Amino acid sequence: MKNITLLGATGSIGKSTLSVVDQHRDKFNIFALSANTSWEKMAQLCHRYQPKFAVMMDENAASQLQSALDNDTIVLSGEQALCDIAAHEQTDYVMAAIVGAVGMSSALAAAKAGKRIMLANKESLVLAGDIFMDTVKNSGAELIPVDSEHSAIFQCLQSGRSGLSKIQLTASGGPFLHTPLSELQSITPDEACAHPNWSMGRKISVDSATMMNKGLEVIEAYYLFNLKPEQIDVVMHPQSIVHSSVYYKDGSTLSQLGNPDMRSVISYAMAYPRRISAGVAPLDLASNPPLEFYSPDLDKFACLKLAFDALKQGGNAMGTINAANEVAVDAFLKQTINFLDIALVIEQTLEQTKHAVLNSLDAIIANDQTARELATQIVAKYA
Ligand SMILES: NC(=O)c1ccc[n+]([C@@H]2O[C@H](COP(=O)([O-])OP(=O)(O)OC[C@H]3O[C@@H](n4cnc5c(N)ncnc54)[C@H](OP(=O)(O)O)[C@@H]3O)[C@@H](O)[C@H]2O)c1
Repeated sequence: MKNITLLGATGSIGKSTLSVVDQHRDKFNIFALSANTSWEKMAQLCHRYQPKFAVMMDENAASQLQSALDNDTIVLSGEQALCDIAAHEQTDYVMAAIVGAVGMSSALAAAKAGKRIMLANKESLVLAGDIFMDTVKNSGAELIPVDSEHSAIFQCLQSGRSGLSKIQLTASGGPFLHTPLSELQSITPDEACAHPNWSMGRKISVDSATMMNKGLEVIEAYYLFNLKPEQIDVVMHPQSIVHSSVYYKDGSTLSQLGNPDMRSVISYAMAYPRRISAGVAPLDLASNPPLEFYSPDLDKFACLKLAFDALKQGGNAMGTINAANEVAVDAFLKQTINFLDIALVIEQTLEQTKHAVLNSLDAIIANDQTARELATQIVAKYA
């Protein structure tokens, strides 16, 4: 029986993780759960899973949750409590599924404590890739990606990396793959969040629509698989059936395919190196629509180009674009700026930030804060 600490339990990945746990209650126990403010949803989860700990990032939400519970679950609040449950000696596996840079410290705490980290929070690697990977190496933690593309690459690489020439991440193109650039200015948040294939939280849905999500994934892949930037390629694939591919020097390509359902990825991370059922329908290639592939349009999807640029620049550039993107997406979701302004805010934040090498967590956090302040000022110009 493995004890799971599920960070971001009330989100989309949280829900899919609990669905896999429900199918294997004999193998997995929910030891701790976390959320930000959604205390009512959390009360339902505590009632159902009886975790030892429930952590709300927000103090008021923690008080509300405490009043709503009549079981033995210990309710805590704040970032340190998130780190404590991630590193707790009774925690075996940590699902790091908090959205945004705020999820980094708890994922890192799990890494330091040598846990199996099932990493959905790609921001941890975008901000602190070198420190995170060094920590995993030094502590003996296991790092298993929970992003469909990275899980695909991870699965393909099980046969080894001898002769690897490049990897190729697939991208659905989100809801605007075929929308002309001229029509993107008037896109509403609900339109941007209506992803054709995947059901996800609102922030990552907007990131998919701008393709910043793919950009962050390129950076995530760079650290996870220890590649050179030029070994990472992106191809548009609207059906989201081929989850990603590895190309070898001998002309062979290995790809991983499946229906777009995060439960496949999550169950793989939970059962690795074995496989267990996930409740996902098997692929039926004969009745599937034709699989299409296109090169990405980097003029239309400027965020993807910005992410490649940031990766090539290195240093603080990746954390800077991530912070600017979080500020810009939040402003877009609040209808303060337009869809196309998101890329402009990121571009200007990057241009106005002095290049620096960040050698410590403190420096990474300070850069994140500075970039957020700058991006907020730039957002105000477009508001
Ligand atoms: N969804 C997917 O299919 C998918 C696929 C691959 C990777 N990912 C990655 O997985 C992560 C989670 O994505 P998601 O789609 O599950 O997001 P989501 O549905 O928006 O859920 C986010 C979770 O994080 C919690 N949270 C939000 N702000 C927080 C804060 N300040 N402090 C602590 N907890 C906070 C939320 O709690 P409340 O409910 O209280 O707000 C919720 O439990 C992201 O990094 C995303 O890029 C997602």
